[in-house]
Amino acid sequence: MFTQRLILTGDERHDEPLIQQAAAIIRAGGLVAFPTETVYGLGADALNPEAARRIFLAKGRPAWDPLIVHVAEPADIHRYTRDHSTLIEKLIRTFMPGPLTLVLPKREVISDVVTAGRETVAVRIPRHPVVHALIRSSGVPIAAPSANKFGRPSPTTADHVLQDLHGAVEAVLDAGATPMGVESTILDMTTQPPTLLRPGGVSREAIEAIIGRVRMLDETFLEGVPLPAPGLSARHYAPNAKVLLCDPQPEAFYDVLVHTLSCYAFVGAMRPNGWQLPDSKRLRVFEWGAWGDWQTLAQRLFRGLRALESMGVHAIVCPLPPEEGLALAIRDRLQRAAHD
Ligand code: TXA
Ligand code: MG
Repeated sequence: MFTQRLILTGDERHDEPLIQQAAAIIRAGGLVAFPTETVYGLGADALNPEAARRIFLAKGRPAWDPLIVHVAEPADIHRYTRDHSTLIEKLIRTFMPGPLTLVLPKREVISDVVTAGRETVAVRIPRHPVVHALIRSSGVPIAAPSANKFGRPSPTTADHVLQDLHGAVEAVLDAGATPMGVESTILDMTTQPPTLLRPGGVSREAIEAIIGRVRMLDETFLEGVPLPAPGLSARHYAPNAKVLLCDPQPEAFYDVLVHTLSCYAFVGAMRPNGWQLPDSKRLRVFEWGAWGDWQTLAQRLFRGLRALESMGVHAIVCPLPPEEGLALAIRDRLQRAAHD
């Protein structure tokens, strides 16, 4: 199969025919990759089990790992899920459209393939105008994971999508780099209190300001309850290089780089602005952004990991952000990328 790249200009009049073309592919049971405000997604008709099955094949994703269903508006959330408390309505009003995914009891119409046989479904209303137009134009909810091969860093550009999935999808809608760069926050609303399954674009602090305390997934682990999000496995988002995390101080970064250069032939550095580097011809550098500017660091995280990987490094050294706000999402992705 040849994957078409449909390049959008941001001008609605010119883009409309391309969106229509992509929507026709979705309606016919095909696969289309598209930008969201977080990362690129790999979409299919969520009401068509055969189409959804193709997502798993294209990604090399295990069938037990459920997909997020993307819808255009709150009424669609009611159409595909049930048991809405006032807390849920508050979350929808405050954060949607946006990078928040809610896990809710599902209704029949959503295929078991999408939910991996679960009684719950993950839903979100993305904010990016392209995916919004695509959902409206196709007239169906769109099931979509991130558009990378299973276990790889998520794609934040159409080039990343094509690196992983060329020939495996009918088309990719190319609207440039995604603005946030890390995936949505996933909140399981079927537990009491709600459980934050994956930190992401909406911070824990912002959610707690609206609905009160949420439980972190690791607290669930401590209580010995089985893993509620099967896809949130320890190793994920990994480039083809060993990821080594260090304390977020310039001196620690420098020392770990020196040590890593003594162990590996080619070493990559995710470098915060101005942090000192050892002098070595075997060092490859990605200029990441200003330390503390989490929005920029999140936006450029996966791009940096993929860029260093493509330079052929064997190990990547990266400082680890703190456990707060958007930094927590970056930290989570890096810890999974670094996991053996
Ligand atoms: O920002 C995002 O969320 C992106 C864009 C494309 O929307 N999507 C994304 O999808 O990151 P994916 O499939 O890469 O990650 C979704 C995670 C998976 O780890 C999956 O296990 C979990 O959501 N998930 C999906 N349905 C679930 C459910 N019913 N219960 C618990 N976890 C679920
Ligand atoms: Mg993913």
